[in-house]
Amino acid sequence: MTLRLGVNVDHVATIRNARGGPHPDPVRAALIALEAGADGITAHLREDRRHIRDADMRRLKAEVPLPLNFEMAVTDEMLAMALEIAPHACCLVPENRAEVTTEGGLDVVAAAGRLPDFVARLKDNGTRVSLFIDPDVRQVEMASRVGAPVIELHTGRYCEVEGDDRAAELERLVAAAAAAAELEIECHAGHGLTFDTVAPVAAIPNIAELNIGHFLVGEGVVIGFGPAVAQMKRLILAARAEADAARR
Ligand code: PXP
Repeated sequence: MTLRLGVNVDHVATIRNARGGPHPDPVRAALIALEAGADGITAHLREDRRHIRDADMRRLKAEVPLPLNFEMAVTDEMLAMALEIAPHACCLVPENRAEVTTEGGLDVVAAAGRLPDFVARLKDNGTRVSLFIDPDVRQVEMASRVGAPVIELHTGRYCEVEGDDRAAELERLVAAAAAAAELEIECHAGHGLTFDTVAPVAAIPNIAELNIGHFLVGEGVVIGFGPAVAQMKRLILAARAEADAARR
């Protein structure tokens, strides 16, 4: 299975919004990411519009010739936007106004009543639906039951902890990705990944896509956004090729 790199441009908009003008433009960053080897563009339209705005989503869909992954909360407002924009994919995430970033995965077990209809409406509109969940086999099983064809595993905790704790988190990611493969659900992963943490996750054979944003935008300031995306792509493909060769 090849591994795709989805580049999240939210924090290009964070920097733009700090001054209120049009620069830097997340659409321009997405086009640079495309040139550098990105396989898709991800953006999260938050309820408070703190970074990406409605007009950005519309422009990303219209102006960037890459699959668009629209991250969104499970709300009627976001459902209406996603039905209008008709992105390639939607990733459903939990959202809490006070958080700095998406802190945990969606609790599919708790949200199971609402999700089947929500997922079905997006699927009927031609969008692939993914659920952003913690690496927990029970959540993967529920994602399958509510009809999601894709899950995205939250790698935030794996990135935050170190040593044995990180090894244990990696095992949880491996087990959740294996459960997804068993249930024929496509598996993605992301959150907090950097050049230093990405390789073991990229080596997990059942993962088809990694979504990475904050680190790439930060490296963009230091080494340039295109070079940062290109380096991330090289690292993930090398880690996957090495893991595939070791299994043969
Ligand atoms: N995947 C999901 C579902 C996210 O919410 C985020 C953060 O917006 C990411 C991936 C990317 O995380 P980061 O910006 O830390 O790379």
